[in-house]
Amino acid sequence: QEDKFKKVVSHAKEYGYVFQSSEIYDGLSAVYDYAQNGVELKKNIREYWWKAMVQMNDNIVGLDAAIFMHPTTWKASGHVDAFNDPLIDNKDSKKRYRADVLIEDYVGKLDAKIEKEVAKAAKRFGESFDKTEFLATNTRVVGYKAKGEAILQRMGKSLEKEDLADVKLLIEELEIGCPLSGSKNWTDVKQFNLMFGTKLGASADTAMDLYLRPETAQGIFVNFLNVQKTGRMKIPFGIAQTGKAFRNEIVARQFIFRMREFEQMEMQFFVRPGTQKEWYEQWKENRLKWHLSLGMGEDNYRFHDHDKLAHYADAAADIEFRFPFGFKELEGIHSRTDFDLKAHEEHSGKKLQYFDPEINERYVPYVVETSIGLDRMFLAVFSNSLQEEALENGTTRTVLKLPAVLAPTKAAVLPLVKKDGLPEIAKKIVEDLKWDFNVAYDEKDAVGRRYRRQDANGTPFCITVDHDTLTDDSVTIRHRDTMEQQRVKISELKALIKEEVDV
Ligand code: GAP
Repeated sequence: QEDKFKKVVSHAKEYGYVFQSSEIYDGLSAVYDYAQNGVELKKNIREYWWKAMVQMNDNIVGLDAAIFMHPTTWKASGHVDAFNDPLIDNKDSKKRYRADVLIEDYVGKLDAKIEKEVAKAAKRFGESFDKTEFLATNTRVVGYKAKGEAILQRMGKSLEKEDLADVKLLIEELEIGCPLSGSKNWTDVKQFNLMFGTKLGASADTAMDLYLRPETAQGIFVNFLNVQKTGRMKIPFGIAQTGKAFRNEIVARQFIFRMREFEQMEMQFFVRPGTQKEWYEQWKENRLKWHLSLGMGEDNYRFHDHDKLAHYADAAADIEFRFPFGFKELEGIHSRTDFDLKAHEEHSGKKLQYFDPEINERYVPYVVETSIGLDRMFLAVFSNSLQEEALENGTTRTVLKLPAVLAPTKAAVLPLVKKDGLPEIAKKIVEDLKWDFNVAYDEKDAVGRRYRRQDANGTPFCITVDHDTLTDDSVTIRHRDTMEQQRVKISELKALIKEEVDV
């Protein structure tokens, strides 16, 4: 799996999808640039989301709020006080860790150990032996697990150095590998705020402290009433937005999975208080359907319902995706209650209420939010699409099976040879198709190599112009995934491609 992930990262670079930021200066950690193909894939994902959320829903409208917001916004939202990660440094290795990640790792390893022990016991005692039996008799292991989980529950609120010392002892006793075992010289756990600060204004005494927004959601909350009034929106209604967010992640790793500068696609759905549970369930279902519509495999998704809730939520779930490094959060669906609007009322002194003509009542709406990272979605699509296929002739081909609707280039037009008028016809086809799709022209190398290049690039169709084209006005269209070839009239090309790449 690690191997697969390395291939994903190097393929993304080699084929012009993702570059490390400022690479000539050895890069900037957890910041990435989208290259010529990446920018198209990213745009297509954004548009696919926007179409499903805004265009297809009468009661959802868009917004593009500024990245800078009045600093009180972040006081009201709770980010100034509570958007922290618990941090711990190892003085020997000079490595910095997120304490909660270390402990999660510990609990995960305990789980693995329990599974292993259960399997061993089942072998010894026969099929009838089950896990409950094992857990009932192995109170020591179960006790450790409970302790780890209890610490995890308290995480972020009152995590002390002693907790880590506890965990360290448990780990050592059980001899499970974890950075906490073996090494002794740890600092205290510090709470580290993830927001990036900056300043507005030139002179030192008038400058104002600002933050780069850590989520796009607050731009929607502060505009809620403006949009509702000017758009004459009736509850339930939603506001959708895509845009950059910034978090000073302590441990940024796994390529574009966790970045310091990233893009979110969020939608806040405003509902009558008391109806939030139904809408929450509805949006969980809608969003999963959106993912499944891309055809990347039902088995690659699962819900993870949260037991531990953020300060603003009364229910929350993640849609997890099977990344090359395992199932991880791709999107969050949160029932945020009236926490945000109420907090902004309090801090701004302005009412953020809605008059509901159906029940003749005025209230602060409840909010159900769907929030997905565009870069993370990019990684899901890209890593899932990258495949190596063994062919009948004993060779392998690298193919990027991107959903056609998302592919950066929809078709490549290839003259079989660089003479006899074939390039001219191919270029004319490009001229004609480029009004509707991104198309490429490629005349270099043997046609087989050009096919492989387009396979690796993710282009769903190759259109080959050959000598027969001169007499029958037809071309060969090759399908990336099946490698099947089909003879079609040039005049039919546009409709055929459209059918595959349109939503
Ligand atoms: N407004 C709610 C909110 O921001 P979140 O769970 O913190 O919730 C939502 O983030 C989504 O944003 C995540 O599911 C993930 O896809 C994406 N995301 C969060 N932090 C990220 C990071 N550092 N890099 C890339 N994507 C990130």
